[in-house]
Amino acid sequence: MIPHLMDFRADPAVLITQALDGYAPLVRKLASHDALDPDVSVAAALALGRIHGQCLDIACLEDVPFPLPIGNPMTPEEYCGQAAEYPLFAARMPRVETALRNLAAEWRQTFFIHGDFKADNLHLNADPGKTGRPRIVVVDWELAGRGEPLWDVGSYVGSVLAIWIDRLGHDAGAFSLFEAAGASAFQRQIGHFLITYRHLMPEAAGNMDRFVLSSLRYAGIFFLHRVLAGLSTTGRVSASGSLMLHMAEALLIRTERAGAVLLPGLR
Ligand SMILES: Nc1ncnc2c1ncn2[C@@H]1O[C@H](COP(=O)(O)OP(=O)(O)O)[C@@H](O)[C@H]1O
Ligand SMILES: [Mg+2]
Repeated sequence: MIPHLMDFRADPAVLITQALDGYAPLVRKLASHDALDPDVSVAAALALGRIHGQCLDIACLEDVPFPLPIGNPMTPEEYCGQAAEYPLFAARMPRVETALRNLAAEWRQTFFIHGDFKADNLHLNADPGKTGRPRIVVVDWELAGRGEPLWDVGSYVGSVLAIWIDRLGHDAGAFSLFEAAGASAFQRQIGHFLITYRHLMPEAAGNMDRFVLSSLRYAGIFFLHRVLAGLSTTGRVSASGSLMLHMAEALLIRTERAGAVLLPGLR
């Protein structure tokens, strides 16, 4: 489930792993127009359950902080030094601040988490005929540590939704789009992922309502990260970035409604 470890250097920290052979990034599979069985997301949930089931008793494990700093006002100089379209991002933040604070207040440090669990970091066995090897391999462990398991769950959900949004490639009202063709395959992936994970990890998931709502809020944070990454590389908020900002706000503060539209019948 993780690539074979070949070497480790402590300072600077480097992991050297064997190159994966016969695996393809899940993000590429989901973004292609191939019909994809939801058992892919079941395999992702099984992998995540195994990660969260690991023992925390490892001396070098560090605490993973809440994934978005809240309430650190910038100086005018710092604000002026941001990317050209940063104000589009900044304008949303006061609206989601209370939701972020509530989520941060529930952040646990009681599980081993991956910290960057998204479809880009999951590799799928490209040849299902080859048995005896894991269906999914997880890479990119640099953010792993002690933290909130629902952040990993929400990152995965956000990353699957982000593939769908990137595919739409234009700006529009977020939730009316879920009637658009193609959304249902992504909704199915997310539904299977959440149900499998909760079945495996009832202690980490907690009660169904809280599990679904907190996971969707963390998916909102995943979108905010994607917009910030776009700002730092291009200085702009792209068309799909502005849709992600809109969705992030909906997921963080109109979570019940977002859940009813995205995952009808799950709660
Ligand atoms: N063991 C591996 N075998 C093959 N490809 C890998 C392996 N580890 C990482 N990669 C590829 O390199 C990309 C970047 O590596 P990653 O560890 O995810 O670093 P980053 O922090 O830059 O995302 C991955 O998305 C994956 O496609
Ligand atoms: Mg990566």
